[in-house]
Amino acid sequence: MKLNNSLRTRTSTLFYLAATASLLAKVGQAVNHANFKTCEQSAFARRHRLFADTMAKKAAEPNNKNAKSSSSSADGSTHSASSPYSVIDSSVHLDGHTVTASVQHEQAQVPLHFEIAFLKSGTVRICVQEVDPLVPRYNEAHKHILRDKGSSLPYASPEDIKMATEAVNGLVTHTVSYVNGSSAFSVRMTENPWTLEYLVNGKPTMQLNTSGLFHFEHLRQRPADGNLDDVDGGWEETFNNWTDHKRRGPESFGLDINFYGFEHVYGIPEHTSPLSLKDTRGGGEGAYNQPYRIYNLDVFNYQLDSPMAIYGSLPFMLAHNAEATVGVFWVNSSETWVDVTRKLNRGGSNQQSVVNTHWFSESGTMDVFLLPGPSTADVYRQYLEISEQTPMPREFALGYHQCRWNYEDQEDVLAVSAKFREHSIPYDVIWLDVEYTVGKRYFTWDYDKFPNPLDMQQELARNGHKLVTISDPHIMVDNDYHIWKEGNENGYFIKNIGGLGNYEASCWPGVSSWVDFLDPAASKWMGAQYGLDKFPESTTDMFVWNDMNEPAVFDGPEHTMDKALIQHGGWEHRDVHNLYGMMQQRSTFEGLLAREPIAMRPFLLSRSFYAGSQRYGAIWTGDNTASWGYLRASIPMLLGNNIAGMHFSGADVGGFFGNPDPELLTRWFQLGAWYPFFRGHAHFNTERREPWIFGEPYVSYIRNAIRERYRLLPHWYTLFRETSLTGMPLIRPMWMNFPAEPDLFAEQDTFMVGSSIMVAAITRPDTSIPVDVLFPGEEPWYDMHTHVAYPAQLATQFVVDLANTLVFARGGSIIPTREQQRQSSAYMKRDPFTLYVYVDQAGFAAGKLYIDDGETYDYQSGAFIERELTFLGSKLVSRASPLTKNTSAYQTFVQRMSGINVERIVVVGLAVAHNVTEAVVVENKTTRTVNVSHSHSSKIVAADTISNNSPCIVICNPAVFIGDDWEISF
Ligand code: NOJ
Repeated sequence: MKLNNSLRTRTSTLFYLAATASLLAKVGQAVNHANFKTCEQSAFARRHRLFADTMAKKAAEPNNKNAKSSSSSADGSTHSASSPYSVIDSSVHLDGHTVTASVQHEQAQVPLHFEIAFLKSGTVRICVQEVDPLVPRYNEAHKHILRDKGSSLPYASPEDIKMATEAVNGLVTHTVSYVNGSSAFSVRMTENPWTLEYLVNGKPTMQLNTSGLFHFEHLRQRPADGNLDDVDGGWEETFNNWTDHKRRGPESFGLDINFYGFEHVYGIPEHTSPLSLKDTRGGGEGAYNQPYRIYNLDVFNYQLDSPMAIYGSLPFMLAHNAEATVGVFWVNSSETWVDVTRKLNRGGSNQQSVVNTHWFSESGTMDVFLLPGPSTADVYRQYLEISEQTPMPREFALGYHQCRWNYEDQEDVLAVSAKFREHSIPYDVIWLDVEYTVGKRYFTWDYDKFPNPLDMQQELARNGHKLVTISDPHIMVDNDYHIWKEGNENGYFIKNIGGLGNYEASCWPGVSSWVDFLDPAASKWMGAQYGLDKFPESTTDMFVWNDMNEPAVFDGPEHTMDKALIQHGGWEHRDVHNLYGMMQQRSTFEGLLAREPIAMRPFLLSRSFYAGSQRYGAIWTGDNTASWGYLRASIPMLLGNNIAGMHFSGADVGGFFGNPDPELLTRWFQLGAWYPFFRGHAHFNTERREPWIFGEPYVSYIRNAIRERYRLLPHWYTLFRETSLTGMPLIRPMWMNFPAEPDLFAEQDTFMVGSSIMVAAITRPDTSIPVDVLFPGEEPWYDMHTHVAYPAQLATQFVVDLANTLVFARGGSIIPTREQQRQSSAYMKRDPFTLYVYVDQAGFAAGKLYIDDGETYDYQSGAFIERELTFLGSKLVSRASPLTKNTSAYQTFVQRMSGINVERIVVVGLAVAHNVTEAVVVENKTTRTVNVSHSHSSKIVAADTISNNSPCIVICNPAVFIGDDWEISF
């Protein structure tokens, strides 16, 4: 649709300039704390913290009269609770897989209904709300977040669940047991006070309400006398100039979940805090005095090392110790906070360390999953049982993305694209920010700047590149703008408080309304706008970026929406705030899926996210800054996202605000090449910083970094396959692969990419400062660039010049690569593979290679090649994975792939006599010989004098087909 110039001038230019100016004014400054609530400024959070303080005080009182118990369970875990909640006599019943109970506060007459259910894998789900709520609470978050809309979760068979009731230390206690294979799970629930303890194989792991912080604000009548002060801030609260009127009054709830025997907890992204979450109640060194906040907000220039909320969130937490990993998934879409405190007990007593966590949410119902592990892989298997997996991405999406606010016009886009070719730097996607539109009216083109978008896309596509255009959820209020007009006519926008009229406020285009994605019809309508018949001059090579979807509202409270606005079904925005971005992603995803005659995997990027977002695409960490601190912070941020299941994540390479110097930009590309999502981006007020801008030597270093990403695309794609099947993170904290090494529990400067590659990030200027690396495990590690070997458990330092990086392969792994350099991943599709075999001390190595067509869903019917590669002695064997089925889809795919071979095998770390010059290849019952050459790595990069030149042999052009079973020995 062409919009005329007069329309464009009617754009709320004044507002836009004002907004931009205020944004610019903040560039390089710290976040404006005054715009965002502290816990003390959020009434329900204040109430829960105050309650926690009161309970702590009572627990500390000698001869505490209020404490109903001070019990010790057999294993030494303590219950210091004086919780005012207890189970109503005789209300505990086991019914199928679920235990139900009624629980009541000692003063309140409103009983609460508890459901405690076992899932097949041992996960326990706990749901709480009033037995008979005065008005319905929002109880649908699970429908948007969980697998199969939460409707058919795999609960354990009733016959496997037993309940026993006894009096333990004078307390009536119900023990619900469930045995699954060799694991015995049991939940021990005391009646008075109500507490719950989860034991795995007899050992306590997670304890609920043992600090007595369970607190459920039952729904109540509005005080008839108009005195709204009965509950502090319960009926209304004011922040800055905003008063939040709460039609249902106070309705929040909170619970303590204590991890017994643990010292470290992780996850609940997205925050800028360290990987191992800090204490949030002050006290210890570096501790915060604010809880971690889970509330999606547009916080540009966000502060580092802070528990403040930013753009996305995912309420999933892991606790890990040397013996076990357990998880908690808190399914609620309203504003939530989490306090973390620890009691470390490393002495010899039978008391163990405990991490106490205190969760509180503003509205909705309580719906918590406890995932018992005991291994990390078990926790992720349990997580996948309830949530949906990260799907296989479009293959091109794993390549490099070049973005900027803005590529000015069509000429600019094509010139940048040509420069990549000129500099022999591969890239896959070029991005257009908001300025391609007519006055920020999404789904329109500014034809003055982009006279022929179709030609532009075709030219990009000819070179194997894709285009992404931005599309935000705010819709400019303008009766001549077809999107606003249709949305308005159909009632698709979020409504004002009270439910009448569209909510209108400011964002990029000026006065805007917001699509109500909670409304299935609105969501479908918006998704349909991506149809080729709807989005003018779009092609199937054009993909989408959903930004500002927390949602950002320039003149709203905390830069977002008033919580009392009304969404579909009459729910307040308060109830569903954290779902907003994810619902926009879902709408876009479904629209992109529907635009193709044959289902092709959509690609889209979102800024906001929540549980469930992993199904729809990638996210990035928003508006970071070009400084070393932000580079360094990107690692724990992305690890946190991965731990919580938001795997496909990246940070703006180069830093969004400010201008990186050549060294910082180079180091950022070197690290960014290991982010799951790899995109360079910059604010419009910055200087150009495409990979070649700083000339030599930087362009060569950056080229090498991007090329390394492309070499390893087969490995990345195989990792996505593993993640989609197992739920294991793509990038992982070191402890995940070395779970019994406590020195690694807080490590965040080195991380694993899958289970084979360790990246030691270089995130400080000055190349003379050495970088510390600890080589974990029991097997040697090999520098992936030099093949120099380092023994396990070596702690050493490296001085690394700007040309180099620290990337190590774990001895015992096989890593597939494609070594031919191309201009985009599209051109690599038929390239041969090189396999790197890094042997362990026993001369063994194993790995996988997964390929499919990279774009359709045919892999779901078996159209993939998945090889299990094993090396032992002097023989490399390729076998089909057990998931390979000889279906017709498989056969057709294998046929299509025929001719794609292994062109080289490099075996690193194996001492082989130099007179071995041939290898024997057995494929399809035929035998042939190929040449073998020998080399030694020569470069030593360690600061000390470790001389571990690895022997290295190369099997030259074995030409085995990637889809065949074969063996190669020498
Ligand atoms: C905010 C986003 O975080 C940023 O990446 C983008 O460039 C601007 N919005 C303009 O669309």
